[in-house]
Amino acid sequence: MEFSIKCAPPEKRKAACIVLGVFEGRKLTAPAVLVDEASGSHLSSILGHGDMEGRSESTLLLHTVPGIAAERVLLVGLGKEAEYGEKAFIDAVKAAVSALANTGAKDAALHLFGLGKEAVSSEIVHAVIAIGESRYRFTSLKGRKEKRQDALKKIVFDQEGEEADQALKEGIAVSGAMNFAKDLGNLPGNVCTPTHLAEQAEAMAREFGIDSKILDEKEIAELGMGSFLSVTKGSQEPARLIVLQYHGASKKEKPVVLVGKGITFDTGGISLKPGAEMDEMKYDMCGAASVLGAIRAAAEMKLRLNVVAIVPTCENMPDGRATRPGDIVTSMSGQTIEILNTDAEGRLILCDALTYAEKYDPEVVIDVATLTGACVIALGHVASGLFSNREELARELIEAGDESRDRAWHMPLWDDYQEQLKSNFADMANIGGRPAGSITAACFLSRFTKKYRWAHLDIAGVSHRSGKHKGSTGRPVPLLCRFLVKRSKRA
Ligand code: BES
Ligand code: MN
Ligand code: ZN
Repeated sequence: MEFSIKCAPPEKRKAACIVLGVFEGRKLTAPAVLVDEASGSHLSSILGHGDMEGRSESTLLLHTVPGIAAERVLLVGLGKEAEYGEKAFIDAVKAAVSALANTGAKDAALHLFGLGKEAVSSEIVHAVIAIGESRYRFTSLKGRKEKRQDALKKIVFDQEGEEADQALKEGIAVSGAMNFAKDLGNLPGNVCTPTHLAEQAEAMAREFGIDSKILDEKEIAELGMGSFLSVTKGSQEPARLIVLQYHGASKKEKPVVLVGKGITFDTGGISLKPGAEMDEMKYDMCGAASVLGAIRAAAEMKLRLNVVAIVPTCENMPDGRATRPGDIVTSMSGQTIEILNTDAEGRLILCDALTYAEKYDPEVVIDVATLTGACVIALGHVASGLFSNREELARELIEAGDESRDRAWHMPLWDDYQEQLKSNFADMANIGGRPAGSITAACFLSRFTKKYRWAHLDIAGVSHRSGKHKGSTGRPVPLLCRFLVKRSKRA
């Protein structure tokens, strides 16, 4: 899809279709009034016949409207005017593009901006992302290729100016990064292996002018990452440590370091998971995909910021050589870990990556991981769980989540929970029992992040959808991107 911005009076706009909003009660928005006037009350007479009320997500396509330059008019319902806001706007944009997909229109102009209280620039970002979301399909592994039927290739937004231009760029970068992350997430475990993930990261880095290095198991062992390597022991696929560096600011500026969990398939290992829905454990690398997506977007937007992405990636498989419950391993930090459950593997690969992050002298470190089922129970599929050792950093991330509508909720990280990780034989156990499972997982990670400002996003509930609409969501790419954009503008 090609996006552009250009202002024009709707009645004079030469386009295959112009999209106009109607509030409930058949109330025309200002651009719709202009078209109504130019067409000799064509719109109001049609509405008068009862063909459209203006209810949210309803649409009505009109051909050969007299007195205007466009070939078609698509009316889209905006719902109640008093309740109109960002959500109604996004729903209307989605309804409009899905209606347009059933027409022969090759291009369309959206005259839907600035109708509510929200800033137009944020509407532009949301519109591009919403359109990308509603048009995303994962078809690369279908044997019989279904061709895209619809003609729609170009969308122009009725806006202009520097801010609108910036917003358009942000929307395009975020949307592209989400698709990149979704594709990686949706690939099955036999295709998206650690090797494949590393190759894709490298190829993306090359395309966007990002530095990359991929460490193999020998190099990972030399770093002393005994915890990370304990997870890959049962797998035939070699583990990798992916490191990407985007230099958008002077070398003196400390980087934002993003760490993503890259378990390409999580069987649970010897603590084998039950069979039901185990296929969804191919999504256990969605944290990795999201941090790769975020650094890609930062490079595409040319943000004045240094960003590092660190991805430990491997499989968690049962095998004669696999790690056993009760095994004790030594992490890169020197702290020893009693592995009481091999299914709590995410924290075992992340703790070594978090220690490795120290080497980049980070401004902040944010890790992103499909870490616990407990987080899904706590927050469902709406919000990511957010944990941090700094209040301000947590606030900053919450705000980025609200603005991008990719929400996170602040969870406690009080010392009181640390007790649950006590081990009789090592410095800590890798599980803290059933109560507060997402918190004790975060507590485990906090033992490896004492030297810097750190936040952890548990995305187990938001990374993918199950059931009929099974698929990767691309979250929390929007949150991470908004965070990076705001950081890059900080004095
Ligand atoms: N990858 C899972 C967490 C998960 C669960 C993600 C459901 C998405 C949906 C993680 O590795 C895991 O297995 N966690 C265990 C930890 C437990 C053994 C302490 C869990 O949540 O059950
Ligand atoms: Mn697991
Ligand atoms: Zn896992």
